[in-house]
Amino acid sequence: MRTTAREEPPLPRDASPRRYLMCPPHHFRVTYSINPWMDPAKPVDLPLALAQWEDLRDRFLALGHTVSLLDPRPGLPDMVFTANGATVIDGKVLGARFAYEERMPEAEAHLAWFRARGYTEIHEPAHINEGEGDFAVTASWLLAGRGFRSSPLSHDEAQEFFGRPVIGLDLIDPRYYHLDTALCVLDDTADEIMYYPGAFSPGSRSVLARLFPDALVASEEDAAVLGLNAVSDGRHVLLPATAAGLFAPLRDRGFVPVGIDLGELLKGGGSVKCCTQELRG
Ligand code: ARG
Repeated sequence: MRTTAREEPPLPRDASPRRYLMCPPHHFRVTYSINPWMDPAKPVDLPLALAQWEDLRDRFLALGHTVSLLDPRPGLPDMVFTANGATVIDGKVLGARFAYEERMPEAEAHLAWFRARGYTEIHEPAHINEGEGDFAVTASWLLAGRGFRSSPLSHDEAQEFFGRPVIGLDLIDPRYYHLDTALCVLDDTADEIMYYPGAFSPGSRSVLARLFPDALVASEEDAAVLGLNAVSDGRHVLLPATAAGLFAPLRDRGFVPVGIDLGELLKGGGSVKCCTQELRG
């Protein structure tokens, strides 16, 4: 076990190079409301949203990661949240099927992107799943959220396609409508996560406590600024800068927290992870 004792410095963590798919928010707007964060009456500063997004992309690049881009389409204001468009593991692509009509065409845009790049193992889903919004990959499992967006039926579908054991988790608080708003994989070579228990049903909380006894447990305060909507490369954890309470516990574990300001995109109900789809394998 890694030490968290004050006297001894934590073991340094190893980053591994990642490939991410992002989509610039040229057409980002809040014109409808499909989660409690979205208020169409609140103005969005589009140039600021773009600058914040570019900062995130530049951080990934500066850390040595590869960022591929999906072409934004007019009329699809949530397309910036690429995490929802597919789940890719070992080069296998599970397409998305969106819960709300407003986002449905995004699924095809993602599929077209993968087809054009020579991906051959692509599964077009029968059941609603919002990609990495609700699927999280750990060393041993595919964690899968349900309750607001992804259908429980999509869990079996994902398990069959990827051949990885799926752990279904029930989300109960509408502010945390996707799994990635309440849980983040910190080290995917181990089973190390951080999460906010209050987002989950009592049974799911017990499952998480049983599978991840050493997890970093986030406070309500840090969860409420979407602090768990973070991306880790195994060493650097890019997370909302406002999640102040997470920085010290991450450092104690040997991670390097990197604060990001995506305040404009938060008006759509998303932050760092929502804007980042990982292309694995
Ligand atoms: N407005 C988008 C929606 O409600 C936000 C998606 C955020 N993405 C995420 N991976 N949690 O669908």
